[in-house]
Amino acid sequence: MGDTFRRAVYPGTFNPIHYGHIDIVRRASRVFDEVIVAVYENPDKPQLFDVVERIELVERGVIEFSNVKVASFSGLAVDYLASVDAWIMIRGLRVFSDFEYEFRMALANQRLAPEVEVVNFITSERNLHVSSTTVREIASLGGDVSSMVPDFVAERLAMRYAELKKS
Ligand code: PNS
Repeated sequence: MGDTFRRAVYPGTFNPIHYGHIDIVRRASRVFDEVIVAVYENPDKPQLFDVVERIELVERGVIEFSNVKVASFSGLAVDYLASVDAWIMIRGLRVFSDFEYEFRMALANQRLAPEVEVVNFITSERNLHVSSTTVREIASLGGDVSSMVPDFVAERLAMRYAELKKS
């Protein structure tokens, strides 16, 4: 646990990354010396984008922040934090319905690793309604997601749903 250099880990599924995530990364990168965006592999649950694609999209989404790195992890998030010598976990908080889930997860992580501090950033107002689930649903129905995700994510979503329709 370094008191001087503050490394924070922002774990998530990022399926796909959206402006809400990028906003949290931007703000966390101002508060901490280093932020690792950790993409959860989640092999048990099929994802629209596999971990390699999710990492690639996250990397492009956070390219402007010099103190932000991108990695993937499997297993417990607190174990990943220990493996990179970090004790600060970042999570974004959006709407009230997030609160119960985040609260439960923070308490579980606290139980597993009392040394880990969860730091919640309140999502900025313009992204309050943006979630990967909403983005996927809109994109799957051919709707415009350009206000929610960067262009390269919107293009990848359109491509993926076109492929899925063909198959
Ligand atoms: O973006 P998401 O899907 O809300 O992220 C959830 C994530 C990946 C942070 C969470 O599911 C997680 O930490 N998974 C790893 C397994 C783990 O540590 N579970 C215990 C926390 S309840």
